[in-house]
Amino acid sequence: LREHEEFTKVKNIAKIELGRYEIDTWYFSPFPPEYNDCPKLFFCEFCLNFMKRKEQLQRHMKKCDLKHPPGDEIYRSGTLSMFEVDGKKNKVYGQNLCYLAKLFLDHKTLYYDVDLFLFYVLCECDDRGCHMVGYFSKEKHSEESYNLACILTLPPYQRKGYGKFLIAFSYELSKKEGKVGTPERPLSDLGLLSYKGYWTRVLLEILKKHKGNISIKELSDMTAIKADDILNTLQSLDLIQYRKGQHVICADPKVLDRHLKAAGRGGLDVDVSKLIWTPYK
Ligand code: ACO
Ligand code: ZN
Repeated sequence: LREHEEFTKVKNIAKIELGRYEIDTWYFSPFPPEYNDCPKLFFCEFCLNFMKRKEQLQRHMKKCDLKHPPGDEIYRSGTLSMFEVDGKKNKVYGQNLCYLAKLFLDHKTLYYDVDLFLFYVLCECDDRGCHMVGYFSKEKHSEESYNLACILTLPPYQRKGYGKFLIAFSYELSKKEGKVGTPERPLSDLGLLSYKGYWTRVLLEILKKHKGNISIKELSDMTAIKADDILNTLQSLDLIQYRKGQHVICADPKVLDRHLKAAGRGGLDVDVSKLIWTPYK
């Protein structure tokens, strides 16, 4: 399988240009066959159309009138904005985003219908426009209570806290919907690390402040994190005991502090007062 991946990867796109970055790709992505012979693709950073040659992109930039992702700006705090893009209303943008994302996502298939998804595109904005740093996709209706399908921080922006921001944002949307949520499986290694960090920090901070007993159900209601994910997180931190047929959370303050320190930096926070959004109907 590895050999096959390496082989397809060589035949596929090795680099992309996006805004002011040239980025080495990680994985195969099923671009239309006519793009398979070019080592580098040039993306318009706003509409995400891609081209084979730099001159084509330069011509495109003269006439492309987008300066931010299509769709509604649902969050703005400082220079950070989040746009909600409906895959049904912006099909080509949704498809372009999926092609781009697959270059960095190993295990996700791309044969789904963008119509069924909303895309939450996070941007850093300046006087030249809103530059995408990452995104997550979300099914409009999920039977399995997924609140996130795919998540990506573009490589030049990784390890700066944007991933945690995107995850926190997905749970804020779930809270507004009055539902619990969980990310679609499987998670990549980096995805799992980021989620574990998020769950650990959110849960331990509540346990630290809370006086007296608290149940997993209560934690789930407060955070919109699915009960299974809470149980697994607390179990992996060795904070759960099983007494008289029930899971009991043991929250010794010293132990909590130790785990919190190990959980690392908190990252960028979502300021909920700046989220203007109503659930999709
Ligand atoms: N090495 C070790 N730990 C890492 C790394 C790394 N390269 N990257 C992230 N982490 C861990 C760290 O614990 C980090 O917290 P810390 O910086 O406080 O130590 C935590 O993950 C999150 O870091 P962020 O800066 O908030 O996350 P980032 O913006 O880098 O985005 C993401 C994380 C989205 C998973 C990114 O790595 C990415 O886009 N990867 C490629 C695509 C992917 O794998 N997506 C998830 C697939 S699963 C799914 O979509 C449901
Ligand atoms: Zn464009």
